[in-house]
Parts: sequence; C-alpha cells; structure tokens
Amino acid sequence: TIMINSSLTFFYCLQCASSTLIDNQGYASCVTSRRRVQNLSGQNLTNVPLDLNNDMQYLDLSHNPLVKLQAAPFQRLSQLCFLKATSCGLRLIYPGLFVHTPKLKFLNISHNLLDYIPDLSLPLLKILDLAGNQYDSYQLPATFEMLANLSALYLGSVNALQVDFNDFDSLSDSSLHHLILGGGVEWQRYDRGSLAKMKSLQKITLKVPFCENLDLFENLLEDVNETQTTDLELVNVLPDLCNVTGDPFRSLRTMPLINDFTIVNTWINSSFFVLFLKNVLLSNVRTLTFLNITYNEDTPEGFRFPPLNHTIVLRYLIFYGVNHYQYRYPSIEISVDMFSKMDYLKFSGTGMNIVPCNIMSSLPSLETLDLSNNLLSDTGFWWPGCSYTSVFPKLKHLSLSKNHFVDLSFIAQQTHQMKYLESLDLSYNSIVLDKPCFWPVHITSLSLSNNNLGNKVFSFLSQYLQRIVLSKTGITSLTQEDLLQFPMLTHLFLSSNSIKVIPTDLSPTLVSLYIDQNYITSVSRESLAGLPSLRTLKAGDNPFVCSCDSYWFMTTLNKSLLPDWPLDYTCSTPPSVADLPMSEYRTSRMSCEAWLQAAVALPVTMLIVLALCSAFYACDGVWYTKMLWVWIRVKRRGQKQANLLNNTTFRYHSFISYSHQDSAWVESKLVPSLEGAGLSLCIHERDFVPGQWIVDNIINCVEASYKTLFVLSNHFVQSEWCNYELFFAQHRAIDAQQDSLVFILLEPIPTNSLPKKFLKLRRLLMQQTYLEWPMDERKQQVFWVNLRSMLQVADHRILKDMALELTQSDRSWDSP
Ligand SMILES: *[C@@H]1O[C@H](CO)[C@@H](O)[C@H](O)[C@H]1NC(C)=O
Ligand SMILES: *[C@@H]1O[C@H](CO)[C@@H](O)[C@H](O)[C@H]1NC(C)=O
Ligand SMILES: *[C@@H]1O[C@H](CO)[C@@H](O)[C@H](O)[C@H]1NC(C)=O
Ligand SMILES: *[C@@H]1O[C@H](CO)[C@@H](O)[C@H](O)[C@H]1NC(C)=O
Ligand SMILES: *[C@@H]1O[C@H](CO)[C@@H](O)[C@H](O)[C@H]1NC(C)=O
Ligand SMILES: *[C@@H]1O[C@H](CO)[C@@H](O)[C@H](O)[C@H]1NC(C)=O
Ligand SMILES: *[C@@H]1O[C@H](CO)[C@@H](O)[C@H](O)[C@H]1NC(C)=O
Ligand SMILES: *[C@@H]1O[C@H](CO)[C@@H](O)[C@H](O)[C@H]1NC(C)=O
Ligand SMILES: *[C@@H]1O[C@H](CO)[C@@H](O)[C@H](O)[C@H]1NC(C)=O
Ligand SMILES: *[C@@H]1O[C@H](CO)[C@@H](O)[C@H](O)[C@H]1NC(C)=O
Repeated sequence: TIMINSSLTFFYCLQCASSTLIDNQGYASCVTSRRRVQNLSGQNLTNVPLDLNNDMQYLDLSHNPLVKLQAAPFQRLSQLCFLKATSCGLRLIYPGLFVHTPKLKFLNISHNLLDYIPDLSLPLLKILDLAGNQYDSYQLPATFEMLANLSALYLGSVNALQVDFNDFDSLSDSSLHHLILGGGVEWQRYDRGSLAKMKSLQKITLKVPFCENLDLFENLLEDVNETQTTDLELVNVLPDLCNVTGDPFRSLRTMPLINDFTIVNTWINSSFFVLFLKNVLLSNVRTLTFLNITYNEDTPEGFRFPPLNHTIVLRYLIFYGVNHYQYRYPSIEISVDMFSKMDYLKFSGTGMNIVPCNIMSSLPSLETLDLSNNLLSDTGFWWPGCSYTSVFPKLKHLSLSKNHFVDLSFIAQQTHQMKYLESLDLSYNSIVLDKPCFWPVHITSLSLSNNNLGNKVFSFLSQYLQRIVLSKTGITSLTQEDLLQFPMLTHLFLSSNSIKVIPTDLSPTLVSLYIDQNYITSVSRESLAGLPSLRTLKAGDNPFVCSCDSYWFMTTLNKSLLPDWPLDYTCSTPPSVADLPMSEYRTSRMSCEAWLQAAVALPVTMLIVLALCSAFYACDGVWYTKMLWVWIRVKRRGQKQANLLNNTTFRYHSFISYSHQDSAWVESKLVPSLEGAGLSLCIHERDFVPGQWIVDNIINCVEASYKTLFVLSNHFVQSEWCNYELFFAQHRAIDAQQDSLVFILLEPIPTNSLPKKFLKLRRLLMQQTYLEWPMDERKQQVFWVNLRSMLQVADHRILKDMALELTQSDRSWDSP
C-alpha cells in the first residue's frame, strides 16, 4: 500500500464534448463535392429557400426561426443525405416531407419545440436526433419499423417523465446499436421490460438523474442486462447535492456484458466513490471513464480504499475533466496492487501541475500514460521528489500534450530513464529549441505539433525516429537533407505548415505523408517517384494550380493513395477555375502530354505538308524544288571547294559566255544583278584582249575565273558551242573539274533534241545542274539568289584570303 498525499490540484474543466462529431461523420459519408453542401445556419431565415440546388447532399438550417418545415422546398432535394435543423423553434414538420428525400441518412432536429415524435419512414436513415424537444412520451410512431438501418437514436424531452412498456415496440426488430435516452429530468415511472425489447442495443446512454427513485434505476439496469449492451454511459446520474442511500451500482457486479462504463457530468463524493469503485472493480468492466466530474471530499480522512481480494480486470482508467469542489488537494490511499493489470491511464483536464509520480510510475503494467491538457511543466513532471530510475516498468506511450513544457533538450535527456518508451507526444506546448538534444534509441515516435519551431526542428530530432508529427510547427520548406538523417522514417505529418514544394527523392522508406493545408501548388510525378513505399498521401487543402502541372496528379495518380480525395482538393489558380473541385477540372490530355502532341502533330503535319505540296505543285512547286536542290548541292560543295581553292587564286568570280543574240539579256539583267551583288565578271565583249584568238581569250578568262557561266540558248548552241568544243579538247583538266561550270538555260533546250555532234554538251547537261531562267518575276528573285551563291565561295574566310591574293598577284594575270 502506498500512501499518497500528493499535490493534485483540480480546476474547472475546460473540455467540452465534441458536438460536431456526427456532423463530421455525416459530411464524410454524404458529401461527394463541396458544391453540394449548403450551410444556411444562423441566417435568420423564416422559410427554407425554394431555390436550393437539386443535387444538394448536405443541408444545415440550424439556428433560424423557421417554426415549421414545409414539404415544398424539399420536393426536388432527392439527393439529400444530411439534414440538420436544430434550434429552429420547430413545432411542426409537414407529414410527407421526407417522402421527397429518400436518401436521407442523417437527420438532426434536436432542440426544437416539437410536441410529438414525427412519423419517419426512411429506410436508409442511420442517425436520428430528436433530443431536446417537448413531446411528453417516448412512444415511437409505428412507422419507425421502416427505419431498418437506424443505428443511433437520440430521444429526450423535458416533458417525458415516464417510459411505458410499449414505447419502443416499433424498434424491437431494428438493428439499433446506440440509444441515447432522457431529457435530463428525473423519471417518475419506468415500466420494467420496455428497454429490454431492443435486443440489438450495444450501447446505452442515459441522460436521466436518479436520486429519489433508485429502485427505478435498478429496474432499468436489469433491462439493460437483457440486451447485448456492452457499453453503458450515465450522464448526470447523480445530481448535485443528492442524498444517495444504499448501493445503486451493486447490480454492475452481475452484469457480465458491460465492458465500458462511463460516468458523465456527475457529482461524486469520496464516500460514495468508495462504494462505486468497489462495484466496478468486482464487475467485468475493463474501461472506466469519468467525464467532467465534480469530486467532493466528504470523508474527513479523504479517499480510503480497502484492498480487495479479487482479480481485477480493469485495464483502462480515464479521467477527462475533474473539478474539485473543495479547491484543496485530495488525499488518496489506495493499493497499487489492485491496478496491476491496468495498462492505460488517462488523467486529462484536471488542472494538475505536479505529477503524483510515485503512484503512476509504479503501476506494473502501465503501457500508456496520457497526462494531456493539464498544467504540467518540465519540473512539474520531473520534479526532484520523483525518482524515475527503473520505474515505469512497461511504459511505451506518454502524452504530455497541451501542457507547459519548454525545454526539448531537457526532456530528451529525461526520457533515457523510461527504458521502454516508444512514443512521446509533446504537441500543444511551448517547446523551445536551443540546446542539442540527445535522444534514447527506444523513442521511435515523436509529436511536436502545434509548437512554434520552424525549419531547424529536424536537427533536434532523433535519428531513430520512425514517426514524426510536425503539424503546425511553422515549417516553411522541406529539403531532402532534412530527412536524410532519419533512415527509418515511415510516417511524416506536416499538415498546416507553409511548405511550397515536395522535394524529389524525399525519403525512400516513407509510407505515409501528410502535407495537407500547406502552400503546395502541385504534386508532381517526380516528387512521388522519390517515395516508392508511399501508401498514404494526404495533400488536400492546398492552393493547387489547375494546369498541366497538375495533369499527372489529377489523371494518372491512383487516388486510393489519397484519403482526402476528392473533397479537399480544389483548384486555386488560374482564376477562371478558382474553387472548382479538382476532380471536376477537365483539361485536354493533348495539351499536356508531349508524346501525345507529337503523335497527333505528325499526321496533322503530314496533312499540312500534303496540302502545301499540292499548292506548291499548282504554283510551280516543282520548279522551286529544283532550285532548292541546286542550292543545297551548291552549299554542300562549297566546303569541298573551299579546300581546293586554298592554293588557287582567281581574278574573277565568273567568266560569262553567251551568244551575241542574248547580249541584251546579259547586259540588262545578268551583269547588273551579279555585279550589283559585288561579284566580278569577265565578259568577252568587254574584257577580251583585242587581237587575240578567241579561244586564247576564252582560255585566259576561264583560267582567271572561279567559275564559267554559259548562257545557253538555241542561238548559243548553234553558233558558239564549237569554240568550246575546242577549248574542252585542249583543257581536259578543267573537264575533270566540272563543278566550275554553270549553265543557265535561257530557253528550254531538251537534251535529247541536241544534235549528235554536241555529245559533250549533252553529257554535261545531263550531269550538271543547270538553272532555268524563269519568266515569272517572283521566281526570278529565287533564280538570282541561287546563281549568286553558286558563284560565291561558301567560306568567307577563304574569299577574304583570295581577295588578298588577288590584289597581291594582280600583275601576274595579264601575262600568262
Ligand atoms: C444535433 O445538433 C446539436 C446542435 O448542434 C448537437 O449538439 C448534436 O450533437 C447533434 N446531434 C447529433 C447526433 O449529431
Ligand atoms: C455552418 O455555419 C455555421 C455558422 O455560420 C458554422 O458554425 C458551422 O460550422 C458551419 N457548418 C459547416 C458544416 O461548415
Ligand atoms: C431577423 O429578422 C427579423 C425580421 O424578420 C428582424 O426583426 C431581426 O432583427 C433579425 N435578426 C437578426 C439577428 O438579423
Ligand atoms: C443498411 O446499410 C448497409 C450499409 O451500412 C447497407 O449495406 C444496407 O443495404 C442498408 N440497408 C437498407 C435496408 O438500406
Ligand atoms: C444479468 O444476466 C445474468 C444472466 O445472463 C444474470 O445471472 C444476472 O443476475 C443478471 N444481472 C442483473 C443485474 O439482472
Ligand atoms: C439529505 O439528507 C440530509 C439528512 O440525512 C437532509 O438533511 C437533507 O435535506 C437531504 N438532502 C436532500 C437534497 O434531500
Ligand atoms: C455528497 O456530500 C454532500 C455533503 O458534503 C451531500 O450533501 C450530498 O448529498 C452528497 N452527494 C452524494 C451523491 O453522495
Ligand atoms: C460538467 O458537469 C456539470 C455538472 O456536474 C455541468 O453543470 C456542466 O455543464 C458540465 N460541463 C460540461 C462542459 O459538460
Ligand atoms: C483471498 O482469497 C483467497 C482465496 O480466494 C483466500 O485464501 C484468502 O484468505 C483471501 N484473503 C483475504 C484477505 O480475504
Ligand atoms: C489503386 O491502388 C489500389 C491499392 O493500392 C488497387 O487496389 C487499385 O486497383 C489501384 N487502382 C488503379 C486504377 O490502379
């Protein structure tokens, strides 16, 4: 036996039962798109609007002075799944209203002024809240037989003061699991057997005080014993300042099914507590919970509990909200041995600022200790009077959430004493990171959420961590280096921070990543490729950009990875799609996937080319193509020739040979166009040395020119060609280097039409490319461009060298 007179201070409980729990459940199970939710709560409406969206799934009309619900506004709401109309002063619900809403699963019309229980025949209805109304009987309408899927029913009225034998008949064959019964007022009568009819009940919550009529309470417990109830919750069962006589909870000892027993909002005296606890410890109850109790020490020596010679099955003991009536430290004397099987202890919302360490640390089976929501500080938990060495023999999970802890380095040091501690929760404290932290190997899970820590937090954590919770800790960016030091990390929670990007190659071991409510604009294939083991990704409520950046995420990613898809994913930008659910965003696959673009582009390009080809053909495309071909060949040869030309020097770009009959064209078109482009030409009428034999003149000019240009026409062929036959005969060397010859066809000269004696010309024309003089002026532009580039040397550097040589060796030309 350990005597404890430790300093436990109790203050008024701040905790309030979460009334939105079922709202959330309804939301989660009903809503497929945020746009199908309408919250008209507290709008001072006197009528339900008639123009509600037809596809509405979730409608909240609470806190409006509606007084009655008419059928008309609901006529088109065939998809309605959740309806809440609490605190609306409802006196009347039109019969037949719910005929229009066959999909209703959640109906909350509590806290109104209904003086009857309305008829309902909704086979899908799961949860029905009719509490806080004014009916004077719990007699359920016969139509409740239709509520085949009802699992939770809330009934309560300040005017219903008795339970009659037949009240619940219509639910006797139902699958009802949880009945919440009572309006917070004492009953005058309870007909034995009425509750026992609902055989399927597994949980009963009674909001009925029993002070005067405790035999009525015992009758009720006997009925509960006949259902399958394992979970019994009693709200305000003993009102303040009630004279309890006898031992009303003695029946617990003979109720083998009751596993969970909960006492809510109740005044408990230390004298009564001894009796009560004895009944619980001798029963089959494994989980005992006290929510918001007021403890009154009415025995002068405090709480004294005699040892029990009995195997105790109690394993979970929970205090959540303890108010102390006396405002003084309670005195407790109890044998720790009785709690040898207890592995879960929660002592929360009690205002405790110093831990009764000796009792808590000596519980032999204790695996989980939850001291959240107290006033503990570093020294209030690890105070000098406590020796934590070799204690907490089995403690694995410790929650110190919502206290006043500060020094992470100190805490890390202290946890070395708790040899089996695996997880530590320090969320909602005032943690400061200033000194290096040395963590024990055994701590693998740590929560520091809701502390102001910043990006540096990672360097204060243990490398052995597998689970890190850093939600709402002021992290603005995440890097691969941050996570490199945690080789065993599997679960990372980073909700509600300001992270903008998920880095690539984050952590190969990560199984679960929460990064919702950050500043992420897109989740890319690359960043998830670095997370091969990922099974859960919560990334909703981020400002997503709905563009090709998110295309892969929206279309390809397996959404079974995302527990919060599609509800929490909305487009943020561009403005045109702001607030659009991402699941409804449509972008064409084409515009986002490069290979697809190519695949589509190819046939399209071919079509265009085809169209262009036919257009080309129609517009002399063949001619242009020929010219293009010429040009390409000239360009290609340019390089080869440039090398050849390295050792050669020329005075003229070109020698022009033509017939007298064509001199008009040569003088008016060819010469101005080529000389205008800076080319130097040798023209026999101008540059031939008078008195020399024509062939010598030709040879001189040809040898001083980079190219020889023949202006071919029928005249030329007939009158001049013979001169060249001779020239070619004498200079076979030039013959070999045929590239230096350029032919312009002023008029068509079909090769085959040439006389047999012009064998050489025929051969040249067949091998050489030649340029046709076009009549069309547009084509003439192309002609000139091509001609010029044939006469120019491709490599400008060589031209320059050539020009230099030309000027230097000027004299040598005239006297060959
Ligand atoms: C019905 O609404 C009231 C008022 O908001 C709430 O307290 C109660 O928990 C709701 N009932 C259910 C079953 O959610
Ligand atoms: C509806 O609006 C009320 C007040 O405007 C708010 O308290 C409540 O949380 C809202 N409900 C939902 C489901 O958003
Ligand atoms: C609600 O509407 C009534 C009239 O319909 C008005 O007198 C009252 O001031 C309104 N209340 C609020 C809170 O707007
Ligand atoms: C009751 O709900 C279950 C799922 O919760 C469903 O499978 C079943 O069909 C429902 N029963 C009726 C009668 O709608
Ligand atoms: C509960 O039922 C069991 C039989 O199942 C019976 O032995 C026990 O006495 C009952 N307890 C009460 C309080 O009725
Ligand atoms: C409780 O009992 C005492 C006497 O035992 C009596 O004086 C007191 O009035 C009773 N209180 C109530 C609320 O019945
Ligand atoms: C608790 O003790 C007070 C006196 O301190 C007494 O008035 C009250 O009736 C007792 N309540 C119970 C439930 O025993
Ligand atoms: C706590 O219980 C007391 C009665 O013991 C009650 O008056 C109070 O409203 C309860 N507080 C909450 C938050 O339920
Ligand atoms: C406890 O029970 C055992 C047998 O069940 C008995 O031998 C022993 O005397 C009991 N001890 C006390 C203090 O009642
Ligand atoms: C998505 O993943 C789940 C489980 O990982 C699998 O059962 C399902 O077939 C996958 N869906 C698709 C479309 O790949």
